[in-house]
Amino acid sequence: MKLQDCQSIEDLRMLAKKRAHKMVFDYIDGGADDEKTLRENSFAFDQYRFQHRVLRDVSKIDLTTKLLGKAYRTPIICSPTAGNRLFHTEGEKAVASAAGDRGVVCGLSTLGSTSIEEFAASGTGPKWFQCYVWKDRGLTRAMLERAKAAGFEALVLTVDMPIHGHRRRDHRNGFSIPPKIGFKQIWEAAKRPRWTTDYLLSPAIRYANLDNTTSATSLASFVNEQLDPAFGWTDAEELLRDWNGPAILKGIVHPDDARRAIDTGFGAVSVSNHGGRQLDRDITALDALTGIVEAVGTRADVILDGGVRNGGDVLVALGLGAAAVSVGRAYLYGLAASGAAGVKKALEILEEELIRGMALSGSIKLPDIASPIDLRYI
Ligand SMILES: Cc1cc2nc3c(=O)[nH]c(=O)nc-3n(C[C@H](O)[C@H](O)[C@H](O)COP(=O)(O)O)c2cc1C
Repeated sequence: MKLQDCQSIEDLRMLAKKRAHKMVFDYIDGGADDEKTLRENSFAFDQYRFQHRVLRDVSKIDLTTKLLGKAYRTPIICSPTAGNRLFHTEGEKAVASAAGDRGVVCGLSTLGSTSIEEFAASGTGPKWFQCYVWKDRGLTRAMLERAKAAGFEALVLTVDMPIHGHRRRDHRNGFSIPPKIGFKQIWEAAKRPRWTTDYLLSPAIRYANLDNTTSATSLASFVNEQLDPAFGWTDAEELLRDWNGPAILKGIVHPDDARRAIDTGFGAVSVSNHGGRQLDRDITALDALTGIVEAVGTRADVILDGGVRNGGDVLVALGLGAAAVSVGRAYLYGLAASGAAGVKKALEILEEELIRGMALSGSIKLPDIASPIDLRYI
């Protein structure tokens, strides 16, 4: 199948699987332990059905949503994800430019393979900086200052990774950034010549926002060595003071944590279990959503993140009260399949499906969705 023939995110996933090195595809596609939460994140959406309404003028569908007091063209967001240049040589810049073209908010991970400044200069769209907290607080503060100076609109503090989840596929594949070169990796590289040629011809991949001397340990041991598992609510408050701007707490699935996030000063929470990559058997993001929407009320915005693979999923989450929906793998499959063109295709597919779903269900604009569409739990 060619990129232009792809009709769904699943088609892009199959294309990514064909093009990318096995350890790279598995790093994107995989989850923690038995991958129960990974599977169930998506399955949760399949439990819902719409009850469409008729004879409404759906000739103009308005996708605008408001987040952190600002209007955005679409409720779809690109979640921050690590090491994008490993998936495709165009990396994070491709994501920023494809997202920018569609007015989609795009996140840069602390563990990105493109620098804060280069990412900020790519594409024209709104950008958020995702922060993990390093044991070296000076490093965290320096990154925040750089992100502020580069014009990032908001900070995303990810808090569901006090230690690294156990991703069996990565261990089996010997995954690391940059990749280790052993017999298994060479054998797999030979089977994926397009990925391998790109990889060999492009500059070395590294965590672009850390120093150049960062060694090629496995991602899991690197995170466990460098991130601060002792980080708590008072530290979060301090970090917010340092940032002094709009901020989102990412990785929340409990209503009490959502309330506390708002009391601490976050303007939005991202209901997320890291796409099933951290705590296996964690509640699915969608199942956690309703309780958090109720707990938060009008005090903050709620973003749903995890398991979204089509526009119908987006519509379900919006119908249950999310102000926006963030996707990770959906655009990464596009990136791994075909760089910026693949990310563009993924975003086009999601948006077209969302617009079609809204028109056919009788929704004209986003706040409309919650009341006119009944979502039946079957
Ligand atoms: C390959 C990959 C790398 C990721 N890296 C990060 C990261 O560096 N920081 C972060 O906050 N979340 C990271 N995430 C989690 C995403 O931001 C997001 O929460 C998750 O992908 C949502 O689930 P979905 O992939 O089912 O849409 C990563 C996810 C994937 C798939």
